[in-house]
Amino acid sequence: MIIGIPKEIKDQESRVAAVPAAVSDLVKHGIEVLIEKGAGLGSGISDKDYEDVGAKIIDSAKEVWERADMIYKVKEPLEEEYKYLREGLIIYAYLHLAGNEKLVDELIKRKVTAIGFETVQKGNKLPLLQPMSEIAGRMAVQEGARYLTKPEGGRGILLQGVPGVRPANVVIVGAGTVGTAATRIAVGMGARVTVLDINVDALTKLHNIFPDKIETLYSNPINIDEAVSGADLVISTVLIPGARAPQLVREDTVKNMKEGSVVVDVAIDQGGSTDITQGRPTSHSHPVFKEYGVTFYAVANIPGAVAMTSTYALSNATTVYAKAIGEEGLKGAIEKFPELKSGINTYDGKVVIKSVAKDTKHELCELNL
Ligand SMILES: NC(=O)c1ccc[n+]([C@@H]2O[C@H](COP(=O)([O-])OP(=O)(O)OC[C@H]3O[C@@H](n4cnc5c(N)ncnc54)[C@H](O)[C@@H]3O)[C@@H](O)[C@H]2O)c1
Repeated sequence: MIIGIPKEIKDQESRVAAVPAAVSDLVKHGIEVLIEKGAGLGSGISDKDYEDVGAKIIDSAKEVWERADMIYKVKEPLEEEYKYLREGLIIYAYLHLAGNEKLVDELIKRKVTAIGFETVQKGNKLPLLQPMSEIAGRMAVQEGARYLTKPEGGRGILLQGVPGVRPANVVIVGAGTVGTAATRIAVGMGARVTVLDINVDALTKLHNIFPDKIETLYSNPINIDEAVSGADLVISTVLIPGARAPQLVREDTVKNMKEGSVVVDVAIDQGGSTDITQGRPTSHSHPVFKEYGVTFYAVANIPGAVAMTSTYALSNATTVYAKAIGEEGLKGAIEKFPELKSGINTYDGKVVIKSVAKDTKHELCELNL
């Protein structure tokens, strides 16, 4: 099999799908790896680093897409890349299709097999989403703290306060991987932290990790409205795997928030989890917008900003399946790693994953390999 790794073209996306050690592993297992010239530069990896482990450097994205049996990348194909989609091609990347009907239509029309990192589920874990969620949770607090400062249009609040002055009030919706990472950083910085979730076990776990440091609240519309209205910084991290994010923070609640407070909607990649951010992703070049005096940060590829960290964490998690597909084909890889099946979103012109079919109003078809 030929695996192609194109350069990412999303705004300020510096990650690349695989690091040299991973490419070396693929090549040693008889897989041909084509890498677009300069694809690793944003992560500090030169073409020579790849050539030294047996990859072929290709000048154009077009050639990588055309020659590869499987495209292994970080983010979903953008419109400029739709022309490369063709019958039989496998795409292995973050796709977040529930919020992207246009891409679903293209994948179906062109009969592409699309494997979304974010829906690969092993037990109750999402092993290919987890490493980037760890990073996004940490970054969410960092970015939120920045936009709370006056020069960035914020309230002018220091997250940790000082002796005699209260710290900021941080509200985190969702106590999963992003929520836990964000809690760790926000508590570490000395903020007052409230975490909401519908999963009481997740809240219990956090409560036990940070006894007396955080408040936990069951997530329902009343508790969300109350907590969010009084927050300086809200970090929304909810996920129903594969599905469009639920709109938990209502417009009326935002109207009640203090001027200059900040909402970081990490769940924007699944369509957005507030009335205001829904369908309004921002980019690293233009990360925020204001509505009702509140700053909204809704960057859909937060870890792309720290590519030297993210690329390695992502490659560590994803290469095992890329290698299995490259060596044994998709069917063989699923026999070896049954959880890979849950990653398949479209196959042979059909949507084969329930959450995406429901949210994009497509018929759900059975996966028949
Ligand atoms: N913007 C980015 O760059 C970026 C990067 C990484 C992850 N993400 C996104 O962040 C989101 C969270 O990822 P994760 O790995 O933490 O997921 P996770 O599954 O670990 O956690 C999600 C949590 O949301 C909770 N939840 C579901 N419905 C809820 C509700 N009504 N109220 C409160 N909580 C609710 C779940 O119980 C769970 O604990 C996903 O959409 C993921 O794609 C975005």
